[in-house]
Amino acid sequence: MIQNLLKLIDAHDTWRAKTLNLIPSENITSKYVRNALSSDLGHRYSLWEPAEVPVGADNFYSGTKFIDEIYGIGVELSNKLFSAEYSDLRALSGHIADLAALISLTKPGDIIYSLDTRYGGYPGLMPYGLPKMLSLRVRSIPYNVEEANIDIESLEEEIRRYGGRLIILGPSFIPFINPIREICRLAREYGLYFVYDGSHVLGLIAGRAYPNPLKEGADAVVGSTHKTFPGPQGGLIATSKNVMDNFKRNIVMRIVDNPHYNRIAALAISMAEMIEYGETYASQVVRNARRLAKALYEFGVPVLYSEKKFTETHQVILGIKDGYNLLVRRLEKANIIVDYGKRLGTCEITRLGFVENEMDKIAELIFRVYNGEKTEGIKKEVVELVSDRKVEYTFD
Ligand SMILES: Cc1ncc(COP(=O)(O)O)c(C=O)c1O
Repeated sequence: MIQNLLKLIDAHDTWRAKTLNLIPSENITSKYVRNALSSDLGHRYSLWEPAEVPVGADNFYSGTKFIDEIYGIGVELSNKLFSAEYSDLRALSGHIADLAALISLTKPGDIIYSLDTRYGGYPGLMPYGLPKMLSLRVRSIPYNVEEANIDIESLEEEIRRYGGRLIILGPSFIPFINPIREICRLAREYGLYFVYDGSHVLGLIAGRAYPNPLKEGADAVVGSTHKTFPGPQGGLIATSKNVMDNFKRNIVMRIVDNPHYNRIAALAISMAEMIEYGETYASQVVRNARRLAKALYEFGVPVLYSEKKFTETHQVILGIKDGYNLLVRRLEKANIIVDYGKRLGTCEITRLGFVENEMDKIAELIFRVYNGEKTEGIKKEVVELVSDRKVEYTFD
């Protein structure tokens, strides 16, 4: 059994190193980050805070002096990177960071606004997801399908009519920059909290290729640390002063007992990387997405929003109507990995050093699969294209 498991892990690593990964919710970490993930920190506990949970001493555990210093550095880096007053690195994932926001800022029966999955919203924030557990009433954030963005006027009308406690915007499909400033204005004017679930664009926010909601007046940014943000899988909470006490009261023993300190150390390292290299990385991600979209479009692969220069983020949205599932399977055979959501992402390939002119080659390979060419030959070209790459934008 053990031999089989080891073999499978090795097989996965070997195979995926030979693939071109265009899943927009995935990324690849640096050596320092990987080392931190496999360090002794991953075996340890440290429990300090909050006053509501009496631990009997500063920390319930001993042996934590380095752990606690690492956590402090991580928080400092996060505050700096996201211009936050308070950061919490303990949420185990983006989903759990959303949960933290909901339990910190709402009470049962409250009306909240979130984006429907029909418009690219995150299923976890749909009425059947986290809000159901917390007895929240969800109204859908109005969306302009043609513009592929939030319909601010209609949102204002909704809020005027129905009031509410919280706007939590969490797009999983996000080709264009959301009108963050306008939503902040509405939230302020009508007395709602505004949390931006930036799971998808956290790395773009950190790299200033996307507006920082906290700077625009949002109460909190939450999200995954492994999509455009090239860190370990996990969650992040960054808040303004306004709501930091609400969050502080709701972390320990509500969304987490023991945080995973190997992940937190790894996250701190990736934050340091983003402070140093984030801007170059993020702008390259967006340039690559635009170029990939344009090249695909010119090859004749249906891509949405040509009239709007395709994208302002890491995502390229495909307009393929029929046979997409079959295409995904054929792409996989050619070692090109995508999800079934008709979206492509350029975060991981950017980390691997790909730049604009290589997008043309990637578009050609995708087109050839789309066009029905046998995958065997294409696969060889993909393997050649991805081999001997190293992870860029790191201290390695
Ligand atoms: C907008 C959004 N929020 C939250 C999540 C959940 O993140 P995680 O997988 O880190 O729990 C996702 C996942 O894809 C997402 O797209």
